[in-house]
Amino acid sequence: MNAATGELFRQHVIPNYNRYPVCIQRGAGSRVWDDQGREYIDFFPGWGCAIVGHCPPRVVDAVRDQVGRLIHVPNSWHTEPQGRLSKALTDRTGWGGQAFFCNSGAEAIEASLKLARLWGHASGKHRVVAMLNSFHGRTMGALSATGQPKYHQGVHPLVPGFSHASYGNLEEVEELIGNETCAVLLETIQGEGGINIPPDGYLEGLREITRRKGCLLILDEVQSGMGRVGSWYAHQLWNIQPDIITLAKALASGVPCGGIIATPEVASFLKPGTHASTYGGNPLSCAAALATIATIEEDGLLERAKVLERRFRERFEALSARCPWITQVRARGVMIGIELAVDGTPVVGKCLEKGLLINCTHQTVIRLLPAMNLTDSDFDAGCAILEEAIAGLIT
Ligand SMILES: Cc1ncc(COP(=O)(O)O)c(C=O)c1O
Repeated sequence: MNAATGELFRQHVIPNYNRYPVCIQRGAGSRVWDDQGREYIDFFPGWGCAIVGHCPPRVVDAVRDQVGRLIHVPNSWHTEPQGRLSKALTDRTGWGGQAFFCNSGAEAIEASLKLARLWGHASGKHRVVAMLNSFHGRTMGALSATGQPKYHQGVHPLVPGFSHASYGNLEEVEELIGNETCAVLLETIQGEGGINIPPDGYLEGLREITRRKGCLLILDEVQSGMGRVGSWYAHQLWNIQPDIITLAKALASGVPCGGIIATPEVASFLKPGTHASTYGGNPLSCAAALATIATIEEDGLLERAKVLERRFRERFEALSARCPWITQVRARGVMIGIELAVDGTPVVGKCLEKGLLINCTHQTVIRLLPAMNLTDSDFDAGCAILEEAIAGLIT
């Protein structure tokens, strides 16, 4: 990395991130280049945001076109891109719904929590049952929903009203739901927690319990939504209808954009004055999101995500025969976790050395969120590097 850039960060940027000593300057598809001209294959593009690769041409064109006409007006006006995006997103749920827009995943969670409390207010329902091992973001409400004490250290008191059940355990959720519970909140597939896929019958069971007990079901699709799993939203894999879903990350290919979709009955509780976001639903991010959807649809990428799921699974299940420290390969579309019985963090550094960007979560799960349009040659080249790095963990 250029020493001057490193010095700028050292002196002027709050050091709240662990950053690699690499300065990324340019990206295209599943490749990025650093300031030394070095090229990398990216299996974790934009931390899950670049779902159709870096600088996807339709998104670049749409943003260029929109930025010259109108960047931002507040939500006291109507704008065409926000209306069109709401229709595009709700048309694809299979159960309709109405949308509200913000700028990030955490804000989408906050909006969903407020909406659930507004919905339950008249009947005194304000508590939320969330899951252990979950991740919902860093703002105080989203953080309080997040079921991992390590993220809570030093910032107590948390927002009251949250309790946590083990992900996958229906009895625990049922026990925690009381008369004051307005919602159950969970990631459809846990992402940061290690790509944990719900066991058979779990989501259907949660839907039945929440209906019977009279509370809402909120599914956090910030990481799993927007086609990543091979359907537009991950809950469609289980054919259930939630009351609210949250979106962000890939929604606008990395242009900041978050949102929720709620059933019209629930959405009606978000009346004027109850919630707002200055930037939410601005024309620029909505144009980027519309172009992201067009790219996925016109390039047949939902199908491609399913093909890539099979190929990743086959490749790393085959490797597990040689490397018994691979304990499980979990994949839905291009949401992939390779669970190891040993510390997997050295794999990230080894891959970086060889020109591949990946992530390791909870120390033992190699997490990949590749673009849906990852090419066969980038798939092969990236997998070869990753295989060698995992195989080299124990020699
Ligand atoms: C499932 C899930 N929800 C919410 C968030 C928070 O999103 P953001 O970082 O945009 O606030 C994340 C971020 O990783 C996430 O994975």
